[in-house]
Amino acid sequence: MREGPALTIRRADYTEPAYWIRNVELTFDLDPAKTIVSSRLVIERNLSLPPQPLKLHGEDITLLRVQANGESVSFRQEPGLLVIDNPPGDNFTLDIRNTCCPDKNTQLSGLFSSDSGLFTQCEAEGFRRITYFLDRPDVMAVYTVLLRADKKRYPVLLSNGNLLEEGELEGGRHYAKWHDPFRKPSYLFAVVAADLVAREQQIRTRSGRDHLLQVYVRRGDLDKTEHAMNSLIASVVWDEARFKLPLDLERFMIVAVGDFNMGAMENKGLNIFNTKFVLASPATATDVDFAGVESVVGHEYFHNWTGNRITCRDWFQLSLKEGLTVFRDQEFSMDMAGGPSAKAVKRIEDVRGLRQVQFPEDAGPMAHPVRPDEYQAINNFYTATVYEKGAEVVRMMQTLVGREGFERGMTLYFQRHDGFAVTCDDFAQAIADANPGSMLSVRLDKFKNWYAQAGTPQLKARGHYNAEQRSYTLTLAQTSQPSPGQAHKLPYVIPVQMGLLGPDGQALPVQLEGEYPSSATERVLVLDEPSLSLTFVNIDVPPVPSLLRGFSAPVRLDDGLSNDELLILLKHDSDPFNRWEAGQRLVLSAMMAATRSDAPPVLDAAIVEALRSVLRDETLDAAFKELVLTLPNERYVAEQFEVSDPQRIHVVHEAMRDQLAAELHADWLWAWDNHQVNEGYRPDAQQSGYRALANRALAMLVRHAVATGDEVWQGKAYGRFKTAGNMTERLGALQALVEAHAALAEPALARFYEMFKGEALVIDKWFALQAGAPEPIGPNAGRVFERIQALMKHPDFSLKNPNRARSLIFTLMSANPAAFHRADAAGYALWESLVTDIDAANPQLASRLARMMERWRRLAEPWQSAARDALARVAAQPNLSDDTREVVSRALES
Ligand code: TRP
Ligand code: ZN
Repeated sequence: MREGPALTIRRADYTEPAYWIRNVELTFDLDPAKTIVSSRLVIERNLSLPPQPLKLHGEDITLLRVQANGESVSFRQEPGLLVIDNPPGDNFTLDIRNTCCPDKNTQLSGLFSSDSGLFTQCEAEGFRRITYFLDRPDVMAVYTVLLRADKKRYPVLLSNGNLLEEGELEGGRHYAKWHDPFRKPSYLFAVVAADLVAREQQIRTRSGRDHLLQVYVRRGDLDKTEHAMNSLIASVVWDEARFKLPLDLERFMIVAVGDFNMGAMENKGLNIFNTKFVLASPATATDVDFAGVESVVGHEYFHNWTGNRITCRDWFQLSLKEGLTVFRDQEFSMDMAGGPSAKAVKRIEDVRGLRQVQFPEDAGPMAHPVRPDEYQAINNFYTATVYEKGAEVVRMMQTLVGREGFERGMTLYFQRHDGFAVTCDDFAQAIADANPGSMLSVRLDKFKNWYAQAGTPQLKARGHYNAEQRSYTLTLAQTSQPSPGQAHKLPYVIPVQMGLLGPDGQALPVQLEGEYPSSATERVLVLDEPSLSLTFVNIDVPPVPSLLRGFSAPVRLDDGLSNDELLILLKHDSDPFNRWEAGQRLVLSAMMAATRSDAPPVLDAAIVEALRSVLRDETLDAAFKELVLTLPNERYVAEQFEVSDPQRIHVVHEAMRDQLAAELHADWLWAWDNHQVNEGYRPDAQQSGYRALANRALAMLVRHAVATGDEVWQGKAYGRFKTAGNMTERLGALQALVEAHAALAEPALARFYEMFKGEALVIDKWFALQAGAPEPIGPNAGRVFERIQALMKHPDFSLKNPNRARSLIFTLMSANPAAFHRADAAGYALWESLVTDIDAANPQLASRLARMMERWRRLAEPWQSAARDALARVAAQPNLSDDTREVVSRALES
């Protein structure tokens, strides 16, 4: 761990490095207890800066020797640094030898051990945990890497680029030498030494070049790699077709590892993945898992251009690569999904994620701009804001310049910056310059407020119909709340995709005053001032506005629509996103009203009827129906209140689910009967939509059966659980039993465990399912929390493995508010002890757990005081990591 107090790093303080490192030769004598790293660096002084000492980063490593130009040189060590005050001239080579200890590396940053071997994770600042270096992304070098290791234990030796040679050594050891011809920053460096096997595929791309694709996994997992390989091939094809970006490597490798802090890492030519996003077979992975593999494989592959060929100048520019690459993976998944309604389903899922995670972040103590201004621990800024809101910012650019204009902008971006480390400004400038006169280029400075300001803007819209003039005047206004360090906000450029509907749902023209008539029924309005009034003409009936179609900007919309108007949108909007949105808003406002009152919660008959007609609509896709029929989750409902009572929200949520189970009983029966998949398993949009709706129906049928004492559907669910041909259906049936607290849940859980006890990713699901089960209402309340506490003592539970820790603990604390926010504060005591324990081993994981409490101010009493006390106790600990300290201190200051 770094010594001394946490420093604040500021974007405004950026300066070029005092030295460049042009070439790196690394030799690894790999050993889990003590690895010896020898490094030869070709260094050049940066002549545009005055001469100054060379300061190399280093962390948790032991220095053995330093030489410059082959001779001894004087040096000193400061906390986290190796300093050479007088390097021998402007050009020199530096030879460094040091050791590191993979077995003791519980942080999983740098070189670490996992059961199948040794792996690296260098983003953001892990390379300095391997050897001394200028560990910053604007220092780019060509790497040659020689690996030596025990052949039996580590038969596979990999690094970035191309394999130059390999062979035997004495004492049962062997070696491999790799060379990466592309200049890269240290965070893209990778090494793997492990006992793995590969699925291989040769492909020939459009240009006629041949490439070798490999997916490395543990022996025994090869049968779960087909989907990852197919996703990789699809990614290569898509990036060439959509953005003319080819695969630039002879060999592209994906390696799966069971211990990993994040989803995956885009190291040049050698992507390292959490097993969760590689391994998938119908028997062990759900449709959602299959989709996750496709999207993460795409994401990391797309980084090869957006991230690796053009990288970030500094870590404040992280969204340059992450926002853009998330946008690209979202577009990829949409194109893979197929038709318009499958695309809309993907868009709804993405927006739901943005609102559930990014909006609260943007309103809480960790709020920061897409391009942050300061940080203490960079790992804390791999956030939903940088990733998901960053992707929305890129999407708005595409909306403003059009799809073709955006593709032109990408081409210009690569013409200008390929091979360099650049900024978010450079990206926006390229998109604008490729589209002169567009709505983006004429407002570029204002548009860039999206990069500079934190917080979610409010968009208020009010319409006025003038029957005499046959006109409709729409007034749009934007406001923004202050956020930490930003009291006053400047207006944003907000693209508002919209249409107008008549009372019978017909699409009306969207002709503005002074324009020629056209048949268009949809357009993009651009609000770039605090407010704007526009008058539509030739409107024969009072219209219902459908604003922000496809969620065209990441704002909170207040359009003042009545329930009757929302019902019109739910029934008729041509934009599927806004149809879903109307349904969610109807239900959400009912849930909020019920939360505020003491009366028994009920959904109005009109809403239930509208949901029924969506469910029964023959023209809608199953996946879309499932989304409409899913109530907003409890955490999302809580976020809508200034302060909220998690227990009351839970009561409301459960009651309304019971109501839908009862009143739509016949419809759920119909949905179950009519959405069985009888063909071979495919994880495509159509089949997974059917399974999602059938699972939803089954959950409702079992819920109703438990409520009415009917044994038949509980037995049917158990039967489905036993005989299901794939994990989606098996887990769906198990979840239906567990969520309804059916008596058969216990034998089903026991049987599931026995069936899958060797399969780590499936056992994660088994833990997560129990951690996410709703607390019973009434005398048995608290049983779920007690069960989670017992599961922490289960022999298969471990805090060391991030996936396992997340499955039980993060599920409880982020997805099960009623179990976590207990009146006796036992949930917070558990949080406190877990943050403390995990922080000592893995700060990156601990600080993510710490964030589960950052919204404490939004809790009603008694939870608020208890949560603050728990935070204060953690903050008072002397040995906290920078990562966790930054989170808890920001939370307490809020
Ligand atoms: N760059 C990775 C991605 O988004 C993220 C990542 C993987 C990461 N592992 C990490 C970030 C460890 C910080 C630390 O694709
Ligand atoms: Zn990424």
